[in-house]
Amino acid sequence: MNTLGVSKRMAGIPPSGIRRVFEQARALEAEGRRIVHLEIGRPDFDTPAHIKEAAMAALQEGKVHYTSNWGILPLREAVSKSLEKELGATYDPEGEIIITAGAAEGVFNTIMALVDPGDEVLVPDPGWVNYPVATSMAHGRPIPYALKAEMDFQIDLEEFQSLLSPKTKLVVLVTPHNPTGGMLAKDILEAISVLAKEYGFYIMTDEIYHKMTYDGHQHVSIASLPGMKERTIIINGFSKAYAMTGWRVGYVAAPKSLAATINKVHQHNTTCAASFAQYGALAALTGPQDCVANMVREFDRRRLLLWEGLNAIPGLRCPRPRGAFYAFVDVRGCGLAAEQFASRLLAEAGVAVVPGDVFGQAGAGFVRISYASSYEEIEEALERIKLFVQSLGGTT
Ligand SMILES: Cc1ncc(COP(=O)(O)O)c(C=O)c1O
Repeated sequence: MNTLGVSKRMAGIPPSGIRRVFEQARALEAEGRRIVHLEIGRPDFDTPAHIKEAAMAALQEGKVHYTSNWGILPLREAVSKSLEKELGATYDPEGEIIITAGAAEGVFNTIMALVDPGDEVLVPDPGWVNYPVATSMAHGRPIPYALKAEMDFQIDLEEFQSLLSPKTKLVVLVTPHNPTGGMLAKDILEAISVLAKEYGFYIMTDEIYHKMTYDGHQHVSIASLPGMKERTIIINGFSKAYAMTGWRVGYVAAPKSLAATINKVHQHNTTCAASFAQYGALAALTGPQDCVANMVREFDRRRLLLWEGLNAIPGLRCPRPRGAFYAFVDVRGCGLAAEQFASRLLAEAGVAVVPGDVFGQAGAGFVRISYASSYEEIEEALERIKLFVQSLGGTT
């Protein structure tokens, strides 16, 4: 007899906590409340005009059919050049670069291609939930490693090493990081590269925020360290740096030995990224880069406003973000659990933020605040957060 209903594989996987906050915020807006949205990781900028024009030209020229599963060759060549320039790593556009429907698809494909049932995958905690979810979907075991505020959100190497086992197949690194705004230091990456060789695991490094760094912090990719290309899969994309979240274009760069299988998942999953969107992404990489510099400068201005403003509120503590566009704020001094803090802040003050436990156990006591919204909205949110925290009475 058939058993009807959804798969057991998916039944245990919770829906996105970020979306839950977003839906609650939307429901309040539908009642006529004004809500400041600081929960979503989406730049508020429009995609630069030359990128849109390139996609429109592609449509007009009839570039409307399936592309190669790997993606259009000129885009793979442009990605290869940018990796060489930015990381000093050489990737063959023929067989080492796959254009995907966003970095999210690249993450999913990589995990499906590498993880067998029972394999262990070390994932950052707090971290973007797609890594443990995709691991569970592949019947692997996600093993969280903590990123602690008191260590500037670096990896505690001793603790990290204690989590490694012969079953460790893959380690996920994310730098700059969502949700902490931290960046992994070169010496930490070097130490992990030594462990990768000693224990024999692969690294998947998600570098989608690599162009968004502040205070002179330099992005370092573990793929660029000696002997690491062969065991590293780079995930990247266009969503954040070029304000193209809706375009759904990303890429995977991996050694030939892995890329063919990752591409096989992609082939059976999405076939290819949208043809005209790939031409837009090509213009993004090969066109003028001042649009990126301008956006990053504005993010930096907002970052400092938020960081200073939050630290001026007794009860809150905000470590200084180094990259991406998130602040990970310690709210323990307010005497509320993060979930309560976030839901009351939304209900009472109309500011939407994400409770840190959505990103893993180590996020308990923190909330993620995105500064991808306008400067004025952040000013307004700060005022509202200040009044809300004051209304809680004594801070601890
Ligand atoms: C670390 C990280 N990787 C990947 C993504 C998704 O990127 P894309 O829009 O290219 O799928 C996000 C989106 O929030 C993210 O934070």
